[in-house]
Amino acid sequence: MEAHNLKQHWDTVYQKEDEHLGWFEPNPEQTLALIAETNLSKDATILNVGAGTTTLIEALLDKGFTNIIANDLSNFALRKLKDRVQKSHHYHLKGLVDDLTNPKKLNKLLPIDLWIDRAVLHFFLKEEEQKAYFNLVKKIVSKKGFVIIAVFSLDGAEKCSGLPLQRYNPEMLQNKLGLDFKLIKTFNFTFINPFGGERPYVYTLFQRQ
Ligand SMILES: C[S@@+](CC[C@H](N)C(=O)[O-])C[C@H]1O[C@@H](n2cnc3c(N)ncnc32)[C@H](O)[C@@H]1O
Repeated sequence: MEAHNLKQHWDTVYQKEDEHLGWFEPNPEQTLALIAETNLSKDATILNVGAGTTTLIEALLDKGFTNIIANDLSNFALRKLKDRVQKSHHYHLKGLVDDLTNPKKLNKLLPIDLWIDRAVLHFFLKEEEQKAYFNLVKKIVSKKGFVIIAVFSLDGAEKCSGLPLQRYNPEMLQNKLGLDFKLIKTFNFTFINPFGGERPYVYTLFQRQ
């Protein structure tokens, strides 16, 4: 799908109530467990890519983190997320509408301490899209900074939101990141989606050396 159509696809998807999205998780426990491993200070710069309308932002604010940026291709999703967080936590969330496979704003960010991706990378099928994504990680994640990537595992579903996926294991992610990033922790987790379907994910935490 072309970038323009993809944007439209995601804007349309997010017209639904959050609880009706196939990836909706009321409590992002697995991501929080990996964040706890980082021991980052509360003022660390955290970038959640392809954030959509995730509940992770409120969870991070509840943990005391103060410097959070949310990115998505969908302006509509980010607006929803920003409004919700403003209401619940009186927090002005910095939102960056940008394409991870052709970044125009994300690549201008200052070094960030933690990159978080849940269920985004696996949508990028083309070699050049994956290259752009990983080049961005390498460009903006600080020295000693962390990368959390949670994607559908090799035994995971072949599609999400009607779109085909590239599934991963930790070795594949390590190859894409290169040896400058050290795998700190990984685990498999079967997410049960709001419709009762099993969605096996692999969670990974890397640290830049
Ligand atoms: C399956 S959802 C996951 C949302 C969120 N991470 C969560 O766990 O609830 C995938 C998200 O990736 C976003 N996305 C897809 N392609 C993107 C791209 N090229 N650049 C930035 N975001 C993208 C979508 O708009 C959507 O919000």
